[in-house]
Amino acid sequence: MNASDPAVPRASRRAFLKLTLAAATLPFASRWFPAHAAPIVSRQGFPQSVASGDPRPDRVLLWTRVPGTAGSDDVAVRLQVADDAAFSQLRIERELSARADHDHCLRVRVEGLLPGRRYHYRFLRRDGADWVSSPVGWTRTAPAADAPTPALRFAFMSCQDYGGRWYNTLVPLLQEDLDFILHLGDFIYESIGDSSFQRADGGRGIAFDDAAGALRVGTGDGAYLAAASLDNYRQLHREYRTDPVLQALLERAPLVAIWDDHEFSDDCWQDNATYEDGRRPERDARRRLNAERAYFEYMPVDVDVGEVDAGGTQRVDEARLHPHGALWRRLDFGRDVRLLLLDYRSHRPDHPIPEDAFPGALAYDEPALRRLAPRIGMEWPALSAALMPYVDLADDAWAPLRKPLRRALTRAYADAGADRKDAAAWATALSAQPMAVYVLRDVLRRYNEAVPGFMGVALPPEADEAYLRGLPWLALGKSGLFSHLGSRYMVVKDSYDLLLALRQADGALPPALGAAQQAWLAEQLAESAGRSLFVASSVSMTPMVLDLSDPALDAPPLLRRRFYLNVDQWDGFGLQRDALVAALDRAGGAVVLSGDIHASFATQHSAKTVEFTAPAISSSTLSAIMADAAKADPATAEAGLRLVAALDVLLGRGDARVRHVQTSQHGVGLLQRDAAGDCRVEFRLLPSGLCAERLYDDAARIGAETTRLAFAITPGTAGGRGLQARG
Ligand SMILES: [Fe+2]
Repeated sequence: MNASDPAVPRASRRAFLKLTLAAATLPFASRWFPAHAAPIVSRQGFPQSVASGDPRPDRVLLWTRVPGTAGSDDVAVRLQVADDAAFSQLRIERELSARADHDHCLRVRVEGLLPGRRYHYRFLRRDGADWVSSPVGWTRTAPAADAPTPALRFAFMSCQDYGGRWYNTLVPLLQEDLDFILHLGDFIYESIGDSSFQRADGGRGIAFDDAAGALRVGTGDGAYLAAASLDNYRQLHREYRTDPVLQALLERAPLVAIWDDHEFSDDCWQDNATYEDGRRPERDARRRLNAERAYFEYMPVDVDVGEVDAGGTQRVDEARLHPHGALWRRLDFGRDVRLLLLDYRSHRPDHPIPEDAFPGALAYDEPALRRLAPRIGMEWPALSAALMPYVDLADDAWAPLRKPLRRALTRAYADAGADRKDAAAWATALSAQPMAVYVLRDVLRRYNEAVPGFMGVALPPEADEAYLRGLPWLALGKSGLFSHLGSRYMVVKDSYDLLLALRQADGALPPALGAAQQAWLAEQLAESAGRSLFVASSVSMTPMVLDLSDPALDAPPLLRRRFYLNVDQWDGFGLQRDALVAALDRAGGAVVLSGDIHASFATQHSAKTVEFTAPAISSSTLSAIMADAAKADPATAEAGLRLVAALDVLLGRGDARVRHVQTSQHGVGLLQRDAAGDCRVEFRLLPSGLCAERLYDDAARIGAETTRLAFAITPGTAGGRGLQARG
């Protein structure tokens, strides 16, 4: 009798389904291995060990890699999932195949499990006449959707650079009983030997097997390689996953992972890289696909990236990757806890200030500003005071300046690394459009210095009643031709806030997360009321403002103003960040968890929404990165190092929402939610020098060097949440 047979009476059909379900969940003994004859564990046979991910009440994704002996054939594998460590009570036993065309990675969706249960799993492969086993992994399903959520404990973390670095910060987690591990991105770094933040010493490193397929970035001493081919990205995942502490951690609890930029490319957006800062286009759809394909082959992330066969094995199908993929997803833990996982990188628009923006060119000219002023609630005189004078070089009155400008700018662009033809095209275009007077005078002054006196041109006056007023990129802090300074980093706060307000009023502010994810998020929030809501964002929503006007800093005069440290993160979409906080509040408030910035923050965004930004597991700390950058330019080294020394204080004072900041230590976060809904968050921090030596066998020293910073998220008035530091 078939259960779907319409002749079966309703009651019988229900009974049959119940019976089927019960049979599926009854444990059984392996017909291959009696419990007393456990196969030998071979880490050589499974060099990346095992992992599990994305726990749901009835399923989890299991992962391993089983390289073939010849390197090219598919490998037969047996999967066992059991209730017990001896594997005498099997839930699942399946014959699978680790495919060579997936780099012998195996991702298996295992369904029909019981909620809120720990399972043991292992993979077995032939070794001659014998079978050898992978290390045994533990995983844990989420509580049933309608059950009250028991106490929940998880670690959250980000940024685990590998070269010359050791994951000492993860060692204490091996003693923790975790429901899952939330990894917020930069699981790998696509570059090796980027001297601006990566180490080449320390006893371990990666050299690309397919060096010819990698991208050569930069020139001279600063040159380095970045992954580009599928082989490059696979190799990075493969080698990172040989780390014994990372392996041990992933063997102990399911992983819940989102990516940030370095899984593909530093400060990326969609399929664009930003290494060249606008010198050349860097869109590369093939490279993005390579990065994503390797990511899903290696990471136990359970999203729709390909067909799942009868055995649960999921293929990675490039047709379902960028731009068609959706990494964002939701995980529920019982009826009380919801975790929303965001993807900040795949569909975000470009950085609002182009890296190749010419400092004297205008983001907005006077006619546009006069039109938009009422829409941003400003009178023209007040707005005008925040603007800079400019002239329109298309006007015939300025025709004599065009040729010298063209010459000067062609030279400047070529010196800045542009191709000769592009340099000339940029110069020609800029010489016939509006330009800020300050920049125009600066370019012409340099031109006059470089040519014989008789060729010199008269500079336009510094001030003139007739000048129009506009918003040039210079006002936002952009002073270089191709630069991340003034575009992605260190932008003038007041001007940037104005730019975003204008863009919004102009209808030119696309959704930060992309339209599809934005709609999904709104839907999720609409049905999340009454739950403890956790939101994972790879980048921080914390406002990071540096006020360099403090006389104690003795900053150069032009820098004595307020800056956003980094508009690659949510500060770059400040209005949308504020709207997101408001939406989270309407859903009852949330605890946001983020990473990326290599520093820890605790932030009270609103009465109901708080955020914890995880420091880097091992990647260079924010303080160290900024100190290295400061030292690179002798002209600004002293002022730069003064700024770095005051960094924590400045960021703490920069915005009242920031309640904790530290920028010079590594670490991880731990979140404990009790059954009543109260949360406690702890940062466990290690001094930065300690990730440069391998302390995997010295847990006592790690313990002695660890600083713990705890915060209670306490219920506030009207269902709010308050952050309180706890000893
Ligand atoms: Fe990072």
